Amino acid sequence: MASNFEFYSPTRVIFGKGTEQRVGALVREYGGTRVLIVYGGKSAVRSGVLDRAENSLAEAGISSWTLGGVVPNPHLDKVYEGICIGKENSIDFLLAVGGGSVIDTAKAIAYGLAEPEKDVWELYEHTRTARKCLPVASILTIAAAGSETSNSSVITRVDTHQKRAYNDDISRPKFAIMDPELTKTLPDYQTESGCADIMMHTMERYFTNGGNMELTDALAEGLLRTVMKNAVILHTDPANYEARAEVMWAGSLSHNGLTGCGIASGDFMSHKLEHEMGGMFDVTHGAGLAALWPSWARYVYKDCLPRFVRFARNVMGVTTDGTDEEIALKGIDAMVDFYHSIGMPASFHELGIDPTDAQIDEMARRCLEASGSALGSAKKLSLDDMIAIYRAAN
Ligand code: NZQ
Ligand code: ZN
Repeated sequence: MASNFEFYSPTRVIFGKGTEQRVGALVREYGGTRVLIVYGGKSAVRSGVLDRAENSLAEAGISSWTLGGVVPNPHLDKVYEGICIGKENSIDFLLAVGGGSVIDTAKAIAYGLAEPEKDVWELYEHTRTARKCLPVASILTIAAAGSETSNSSVITRVDTHQKRAYNDDISRPKFAIMDPELTKTLPDYQTESGCADIMMHTMERYFTNGGNMELTDALAEGLLRTVMKNAVILHTDPANYEARAEVMWAGSLSHNGLTGCGIASGDFMSHKLEHEMGGMFDVTHGAGLAALWPSWARYVYKDCLPRFVRFARNVMGVTTDGTDEEIALKGIDAMVDFYHSIGMPASFHELGIDPTDAQIDEMARRCLEASGSALGSAKKLSLDDMIAIYRAAN
């Protein structure tokens, strides 16, 4: 039976070649007059998109400041730096030019500037909720995290190795400019990690013991098949515009809530377990998910068997006969083959990390602490379950 749901995806999507030229007019339409442009390392400088964004803002009569140097698994310190610049210059709009790390940093700065008397980290520690947030928008340069339409942001506090998410609809971006051309400069590993992450945002919602809705399942399965097909194309033909367009659109639809409507809240334990890996080992998020998922799936599939059988049949194309358990396991094996086919890891060893038992215990402890009471829907995970999943991924 379909669960009750609320679908809220207010972000305006402007999709296609050259759309970043419209950013100045769009920011003006949403009331921005003093804009902080947030970007990452040098990719946005090298590709020229940062220049184009600044020029478009200037042409629209909008003042802008820049904050570069956001790193993957973005740091709280950079958020504080942005809040300082924002306060000094009366910033009223945040424009992210980059991927999930840049957009998440912009969202965190936007929270910090909207309630300047409070410490923004409290949101990520879940000791308070946000009352206000400045408007945020993005020019997306990598299809992956889905932050361009999501209500989430994930920030790492380096001194404590805590990587923490805060979800709130008031941070949903006003608009997302998505030009697939901009993703052609990505290193292959980032393209492939992005595909793994996009798929996982739908898989987290799909593997649940919650409700059931045929249309949502069909959307989810279609999205997963589409990303797999185009990830394989991009592995050998990274300049393929059509494949980049398919993956980019999937990235937003996979994490704006659409593929979770009517099927309860989803599982999301792979993400929570991976965030601890990101906090401790600074791994690339999508690759970390790929390395962990097979271990999680083999641990929980018996508790969520109908969904794993359906996944094997409708997504992974398993056609052979067998018991439900055998078919479910073939689906998981096929996923591992897919990861390998696009150069993604399917274990910690392949990811290039080798956590000790003590580190695994610590990641599990932190994951439990960060998860509170929501510990998965495919199977509720205890501390010992988490340790067993990490160990089996090793
Ligand atoms: O820093 P630059 O030089 O820009 O390089 C980046 C970075 O090294 C590079 N890159 C991005 N666009 C490029 C490019 N290189 C060449 N050409 C381009 N067009 O790609 C690298 C990764 O960038 P990043 O922003 O970290 O990637 P992604 O979008 O995968 O974001 C990952 C972060 O998002 C979080 C993850 O945990 C991680 O911290 N997530 C955020 C979510 C959300 N807000 O809804 C949900 C996700 O599940 C995820 O947790
Ligand atoms: Zn993710």
